[in-house]
Amino acid sequence: MGCEMAKHDIPYVNLPAQGREQLDDLKKILEQVVLRGSFVGTHDDLAPLEKRLAEYCGTTEAVALNSGTDALFLSMKVAGIGEGDEVITPPNSFVASTATIIQLGAKPVFADVLSDQNVDPEKIARSITPRTKAIMPVHLTGRICQMDEIMEVANKHGLVVIEDAAQAIGSMYKGRLAGSIGHFGCFSAHPLKNLNALGDGGFVTTNDKEAAARMRRLRAHGMADRATIDEWGLVSRMDTLQAAVLNYRLDKLPDIITKRRANAALYQKLLHHDRLYVPPDRNEEFNTFHTFVIQVDRRDELQAHLKNIGIKTAIHYPVPIHLQPAAKALGHKMGDFPMTERQANRILTLPINQYLTKADVETVAGEVLAFVNQ
Ligand SMILES: Cc1ncc(COP(=O)(O)O)c(C=O)c1O
Repeated sequence: MGCEMAKHDIPYVNLPAQGREQLDDLKKILEQVVLRGSFVGTHDDLAPLEKRLAEYCGTTEAVALNSGTDALFLSMKVAGIGEGDEVITPPNSFVASTATIIQLGAKPVFADVLSDQNVDPEKIARSITPRTKAIMPVHLTGRICQMDEIMEVANKHGLVVIEDAAQAIGSMYKGRLAGSIGHFGCFSAHPLKNLNALGDGGFVTTNDKEAAARMRRLRAHGMADRATIDEWGLVSRMDTLQAAVLNYRLDKLPDIITKRRANAALYQKLLHHDRLYVPPDRNEEFNTFHTFVIQVDRRDELQAHLKNIGIKTAIHYPVPIHLQPAAKALGHKMGDFPMTERQANRILTLPINQYLTKADVETVAGEVLAFVNQ
């Protein structure tokens, strides 16, 4: 007996489609890198991409790294964050934002979030102690946090602001670009991001020339030159191949953002229901929609139903960081961050990738509404 065909066939992401579209160009890029024979770049290999990334993100510097995780780690390291320091951050992020704070010997202090899933500036202000050294807002889903309020708190207390902009390349808030508002912007070029490598990648943006130079040393063993180790470093540089791919794909990013925003606008138009929270469309924001996350009762049932009828969705993220087994030593319990915990049970990420057709988006919206109306 064969399997029954699902009613629809709508993937959550579609990397094979991107691969098919770009395969000829990617082959040429691979050939160039292989024949040149330089794979783990010098500054010269990465410099053209760094220049373009800085321009794109509205800063003077960009430092190309092997991941968004190391972008967070190295930003905090050059900001002098370490043992005994506190960094305020939301508990509903991807684990990397908290994990890097802990890897530096500092303490993550969680601040709960607003209805739009981004950190609440008032909760940040209330979490400040004499040990607070930095604030790490996370621009979740591609929506920039309330940065005016966050910068005001930071400036009042002399704190460093490290924007986790992993999901927000090209996003804007009151005309300012993600990664250009705080002291450091940390980006991921993971294959699932809007600007994506063929593996891991990431970068830091900053206007601090000295900090950028230090990060460039730290990403390559702390080497000042071939013979001199200035300080103990890591291997956090971006591969030449990934740099070449990102340089090529950066040209395609505006079009990807336009398509994702069009898909989001269509969802926003179609998904009207009092039992459904849909990401708002605000005048002062330019959201690039890395993800499109609705909030709904009976989320697990809805996700299972959509899966059964051939519509793939995701959950970002099912278990808040403060409730992870790894976070046990921080001493948190259920109830500490009610908004984050409530959202963790209600959030559902709908497909929004640039390869969806208008009919696909209409189908997903129609099936979600049909379920909610039951
Ligand atoms: C919010 C957030 N922070 C940090 C990261 C870490 O980036 P990477 O996977 O490139 O290390 C990611 C992406 O995976 C992310 O979504």
